[in-house]
Amino acid sequence: MNKNKMWGGRFGASPSEIMQEINASIETDRRFAAQDLEGSRAHADMLGATGIISREDADQILSGLNTIASEFADGSFPFRVEFEDIHLNVEARLRELIGPVAGRLHTGRSRNDQVATDFRLWVRDAIDRLDQGLRALQSALVGQADQNADTIMPGFTHLQSAQPVTFGHHCLAYVEMFARDRGRLADARKRLNESPLGAAALAGTSFPVDRTQTAKTLGFDRPMANSLDAVSDRDFAIETVTAAALCAMHLSRLAEEIVVWCSAQFDFVSLPDDLTTGSSIMPQKRNPDAAELVRAKTGRINGAAIALLTMMKGLPLAYSKDMQEDKQPVFDAVDSLELSLTAMTAMISSLQVRKDTMQQAAAQGFSTATDLADWLVRVLKLPFRDAHHTTGALVAMAEKQGVQLDELTLEQLQSVESRITKDIYSVLSVENSVKSRVSAGGTAPERVREQVAFWQNALK
Ligand code: ARG
Repeated sequence: MNKNKMWGGRFGASPSEIMQEINASIETDRRFAAQDLEGSRAHADMLGATGIISREDADQILSGLNTIASEFADGSFPFRVEFEDIHLNVEARLRELIGPVAGRLHTGRSRNDQVATDFRLWVRDAIDRLDQGLRALQSALVGQADQNADTIMPGFTHLQSAQPVTFGHHCLAYVEMFARDRGRLADARKRLNESPLGAAALAGTSFPVDRTQTAKTLGFDRPMANSLDAVSDRDFAIETVTAAALCAMHLSRLAEEIVVWCSAQFDFVSLPDDLTTGSSIMPQKRNPDAAELVRAKTGRINGAAIALLTMMKGLPLAYSKDMQEDKQPVFDAVDSLELSLTAMTAMISSLQVRKDTMQQAAAQGFSTATDLADWLVRVLKLPFRDAHHTTGALVAMAEKQGVQLDELTLEQLQSVESRITKDIYSVLSVENSVKSRVSAGGTAPERVREQVAFWQNALK
């Protein structure tokens, strides 16, 4: 009979195979081995400093933890499933290295505050990496905006040609979205950055632990105020993953646009060979798989958010083992988003923009009809509704003749509204259309250049 060495004191039998299988989390939580070690070092140091254990014992523990750190580094640390999780694996190894004094490390601590601490540290690092990834993507988009401040493309609503816009303006729309994503992650990080350590199992501890010291050592702003909340809160994981889901949604919109733009029917952009794939049967194909996969990964990230929300729903205070299921979705969501950001940055940086095709497409579909209506309002002083109606009649005429608005003759234009003069042609070109959209936040090249300068400075 081989009782669990870490918690088996009151047990008559060891866990069954199935118990061990469902209970063990080491294959997942070994991923935050480094954070677990960091937390243990801070705790051991504090135990020594407060005299809860002797300085000699603390130093022995710390030197054992150093050995474990080097075992992590050179890959020799034995991760063993019989020790369930990362916390017990580290403690068991520590005992092998330094003997029974290892047992003093867990004074005034529980795996409940330990895992909450480790996970917060891991998620905090993840947020910092995601922020870097988002920043790099923003820089790539600003680079394209800079190159394409006056590249004209069709602007769409309902995916119908609406009004001409500039490609730079289009890129900068995504820069704004990713700025909000960074804001949400930064906001989550602020709330995350409090230390659960010292909450122990749920009620706090009778030992005079210095929670402010451990919080400070671990880079937290302060200890969490309520021990029950400290061990049972997973808001930080949910906030991060839902922010990731929102970001993934933005990425999937951009990915979708790249897929559409790359098609022969649009042909607005092309991706370099090294970011596309071929077909095993159709030799002509060059598929935007990377964009499609970015679009698809949104599903797993949304799934992670739903998994966490569902897992936490209805859990009574404080810790329940349900919460051990929180790591996989977070790891998967973060991995998926990091990879998506990297792939998207590569695609945006290397996108070849077909300016001519874009400009030609912008002139199709009567995209300057609003400019025509605005001219009627400005010059002939028509109420906008009447101008809209008159323009509609002209569009119908052009459509019937199979020509664009600027290909209608003056006589044809005057047959609908006799006061139209040839000056109207000046607003029917796509160049003049975008140039005229100078309102704040508008698509005019001069507004785009201002925003490019703003972002170049902000991303420095
Ligand atoms: N492996 C556990 C987890 O990930 C650590 C906490 C275990 N706590 C407990 N009371 N059994 O949640």
